[in-house]
Amino acid sequence: MAGFANGSWASSTGDAPPITRIDPTIPHPARIYDYLLGGKDHFASDREAGDQLIKLSPGTREGVRAHRAFLRRAVRHLADEAGMTQFLDIGTGIPTQGNTHEIAQAVNPKSRVVYVDNDPIVLVHGRALLTSSDEGMTTVIEADLRDPDSILGHPEVNGMLDFSQPVAIIMAGVLHFVTDDNRPVELVERYKAAVPSGSRLLVSHITLDFAPQVAEDDFTKPYDKGPASMVPRTHAQVGEFFQGWTLVDPGLAEVVTWRPDEDEYQETIPGGGHAWAYGGVAVKP
Ligand SMILES: C[S@@+](CC[C@H](N)C(=O)[O-])C[C@H]1O[C@@H](n2cnc3c(N)ncnc32)[C@H](O)[C@@H]1O
Repeated sequence: MAGFANGSWASSTGDAPPITRIDPTIPHPARIYDYLLGGKDHFASDREAGDQLIKLSPGTREGVRAHRAFLRRAVRHLADEAGMTQFLDIGTGIPTQGNTHEIAQAVNPKSRVVYVDNDPIVLVHGRALLTSSDEGMTTVIEADLRDPDSILGHPEVNGMLDFSQPVAIIMAGVLHFVTDDNRPVELVERYKAAVPSGSRLLVSHITLDFAPQVAEDDFTKPYDKGPASMVPRTHAQVGEFFQGWTLVDPGLAEVVTWRPDEDEYQETIPGGGHAWAYGGVAVKP
């Protein structure tokens, strides 16, 4: 099927159209991220939260752009070197430049991409902007990572992705919004168990390993008014998401050092030169 396949409103968050469920007074991760990336889809509450982060770390914007550049390189690796044609991208974010389907379909126009996000604003923009290549397919559904059944059992996910063939699971910049009481490692295992050998897992995650001078409470405070608390994790903790799978070179690395690409603009991160995020890609044996 060609073109954009519509997502469904039916979700764990209710059947009302997403636009009626957007509360501009509460800062949301997707809109804070959009603000930090220099996008246009954010409200005063999101800008306030983003500015608090910049105050704490003057390199926040550069770090966020470096994180996004990691995602582009890693998706290109998945589509090209790893030959993936099916992508389940959970925690999509508001569409910006270099979305997963654009990178993947530039390598292989037949690539199929299912986007999943629990923020209604992502659905609104996703539906308007995520147009697919003619040969491939792209869709966006509203669902919550913490409810694997609602994603893995979703008719559109199953209509679009063939789970008997390798699938690239992408969880970029989203697992730090899953608190420990939601057992994030067990949740990720549910998704890993649903895909066959040869599948890939891409994870990127906020860390304070490079910023020992920053108190975790100060760093996470801007998110406390929103729907999802922020949980930075250490290298060892992020590594647990990949357990049982084989990390490809260079392993779980600070995002700027993960296969830097000479052709792509590299961010210079002020304040010590670190993006406060790890990224990695692993293969299911
Ligand atoms: C920081 S953005 C990352 C966007 C994109 N993946 C990237 O790395 O550039 C995090 C996204 O995850 C979404 N998100 C947070 N918690 C989620 C959950 N429990 N289920 C699904 N999406 C979630 C947010 O709405 C937001 O769009």
